[in-house]
Amino acid sequence: MSVISLFGNPHQMPPDRYVNTLRDALTPKNDQWFAYQANGEAAREAAAESLQRLLDVPFRTEDIYLTTGGFAAIALALKTVADPGDEVIYSLPPWFLYEPLILEAGLVPVKVTVDTTTFDLDLDAIEAAITERTRVVIVNSPNNPTGRIYPPELLARLADLLEAASARIRRRIYLVSDEAYNRIVFDGLRFHSPAEFYPHTLLAYSYGKTHLSPGQRVGYLALPPAMPHRDAMRPAITGLQVAMGWVYPNALLQHALPELEKFSIDVSQLQRRRDRLVDALGGMGYRVQPPEGSFYLYVPSPVPDDEAFTESLARRDVFVFPGVLFETPGFFRISLTANDDMVERSLPAFKEAIEEHRP
Ligand SMILES: Cc1ncc(COP(=O)(O)O)c(C=O)c1O
Repeated sequence: MSVISLFGNPHQMPPDRYVNTLRDALTPKNDQWFAYQANGEAAREAAAESLQRLLDVPFRTEDIYLTTGGFAAIALALKTVADPGDEVIYSLPPWFLYEPLILEAGLVPVKVTVDTTTFDLDLDAIEAAITERTRVVIVNSPNNPTGRIYPPELLARLADLLEAASARIRRRIYLVSDEAYNRIVFDGLRFHSPAEFYPHTLLAYSYGKTHLSPGQRVGYLALPPAMPHRDAMRPAITGLQVAMGWVYPNALLQHALPELEKFSIDVSQLQRRRDRLVDALGGMGYRVQPPEGSFYLYVPSPVPDDEAFTESLARRDVFVFPGVLFETPGFFRISLTANDDMVERSLPAFKEAIEEHRP
């Protein structure tokens, strides 16, 4: 088995509580238990309450649209507000599935780069990329792959920028906030959503990270209560949920959702793993910026050719993603979802690899 994994996949058995929740939800309580399920009321309510608690924003039940994970929530958001030919801005390094989702919706990807020292959004670059065809800016915090959580001041400045740019181009620019990791936050930090600052935000969430169960497809798209015209958007979104191929979670997951909302994976265990890697790699000479959330460490490659470097790790059975895959060469991404044993076994390989490449 590989020593460190590429994807944010589990490498330990799922917790009993997760399994028991699904087992309970499997027992039919009426003859409609496995009937077609659209936006199930109990699931929507549980999701809205949980979002209210997390963000201190009074999300309403009817503004939660259940989806098969974050993928479908992002696709649904794009198709709700953008017309073919519209431009969608997002920042590199990105989650690499934005581009296909944008292209599949008939939209045009426009890429800018984050500040590669702080991993913060480059607001000047975003502003410069806006044209009269801009319809959406995607923001992902906590970020995959950098682990950065954008601070509230930055989100407030982004909101001002988008408000002014929308007025300038005389067309509303929407923000799609990809919050797949909004429960995976370290050091007791408080996560802030762009939805707290910019009312024209569509919030995409996935339970796949919170329970480290990405094969169980459940998530949602949420509109904040301050979103103008959200009543008019409702039939468009529910129509799309069907037209995109019934992108609702399975009945079983919808029944389980109120209980699933009550727990998450052990984030402190992930944090300990982060600390172990940050300390050990730092001691070897890697320049690691500790992630504030998400499942990843995005580390500057000790040599400019990140592919050559990740290959030298792969020869030692340590598998990480090179930065070229995120369109930011010179970095590599480690996944914290590797188990503790895998992390420990990887450390000598990281040491040998950096020594091999030292002048
Ligand atoms: C930033 C980001 N957004 C969205 C997703 C999609 O999540 P899911 O597979 O649970 O739909 C992922 C999954 O890796 C992700 O990393």
